[in-house]
Amino acid sequence: MKNILITGGAGFIGSHVVRLFVNKYPEYRIINLDALTYAGNLANLKDIEDAPNYTFIKADICDYERMCAIMQEYAIDGVIHLAAESHVDRSIKDPFTFARTNVMGTLSLLQAARQYWNGEWQGKLFYHISTDEVYGALELDKPEEPAPYGSEFFSEATKYSPHSPYSASKAASDHFVRAYHDTYGMPTLVTNCSNNYGPYQFPEKLIPLFINNIRRGKPLPVYGKGENVRDWLYVVDHARAIDTIFHNGKVGDTYNIGGFNEWKNIDIVKVLIKTVDRQLGNAEGTSDHLITYVTDRAGHDLRYAIDSTKLKNELGWHPSLQFEEGIEKTVRWYLDNQEWMEHITSGDYEKYYEEMYGKR
Ligand code: NAD
Ligand code: DAU
Repeated sequence: MKNILITGGAGFIGSHVVRLFVNKYPEYRIINLDALTYAGNLANLKDIEDAPNYTFIKADICDYERMCAIMQEYAIDGVIHLAAESHVDRSIKDPFTFARTNVMGTLSLLQAARQYWNGEWQGKLFYHISTDEVYGALELDKPEEPAPYGSEFFSEATKYSPHSPYSASKAASDHFVRAYHDTYGMPTLVTNCSNNYGPYQFPEKLIPLFINNIRRGKPLPVYGKGENVRDWLYVVDHARAIDTIFHNGKVGDTYNIGGFNEWKNIDIVKVLIKTVDRQLGNAEGTSDHLITYVTDRAGHDLRYAIDSTKLKNELGWHPSLQFEEGIEKTVRWYLDNQEWMEHITSGDYEKYYEEMYGKR
């Protein structure tokens, strides 16, 4: 029996990782630890909540004593650490919360694992999930041509250069994980992934926010000119990569995960409008007027593009879904799961949006 602690398992990516591990590895015991912040939602895991190999614990990773007790009580062999504050706009408003959870929370978990494993590293692993945003921003060399928009990509050797409080906090946590490997010999792994999309994403992020707004006929706030580029990966493919790397990755190493799938924001928005209108049975062009250009995000990174060749060559992983198919499935999921969306957007959601962005 392997006892695996997955942190942040009630969030977007974490819920897909928990689901994959619970279903694929009945011989493992999966312990999902999550503080259930605004971004954590147990409704994301309804389908597996009664599985015999699944346990949920509500806890804050910053609570070091509690982390030590949980490591011991559940005899944890492996940690897959996803719990974090994850939204760039929130980090601009409230950097302290990001430093607390992403930096101090990661450190608390690392130290608790070190304390419990006590130098007996055989069969142990601390796997930290990070982001491509730590690498900073790339240029647009060929803005007028189709993607890729530049010849440069983020590789595992790219120097860290975070720009937002969110990415700075993730960079700091990555450094702590590597320091625990280099200093104490802890078996660690770090992966840096590009933008994820798919079911169960909190509607503060571009894709679910815009799908929901198109459905409700509300404005689509495109930052700046909509020319920023992101590299999109279907979330289940990220979960598959995490599974592959957790089991076969080289300890102490770093892997980049991405889809070689660059899109300008404005082009994504157009695809979303077209897809939602079609799936709702609206005439083409019905929702085009919702596009609203708004003030740009402060420090907005221009382009992210991941080179995931190492992961493909060394561990044989590659994305399973084409973007067109992934977007079709994603839009269908949000339109079919309006109850989930309404539950998520009840309570403080509207209030938060007004405070954050003004009335929209
Ligand atoms: P999310 O915001 O949807 O989920 C984060 C989860 O962490 C929530 O369930 C929340 O309740 C939990 N959490 C927050 N603070 C906590 C604390 N102090 N203690 C315990 N749990 C806490 O985030 P996500 O988009 O699923 O991202 C998961 C991880 O993947 C993050 O580390 C993020 O940096 C990284 N990542 C995300 C993306 C992306 O596109 N979303 C891409 C690359 C990497
Ligand atoms: O690259 C990986 C990162 O991707 C993860 O580490 C983060 O956790 C995740 O939130 C995501 O960060 P982004 O800032 O790229 O994602 P977001 O969905 O917030 O924005 C995507 C792009 O769309 C970005 O260029 C900003 C723009 N945008 C976003 C929102 C919410 C808009 O134009 N309007 C919006 O309302």
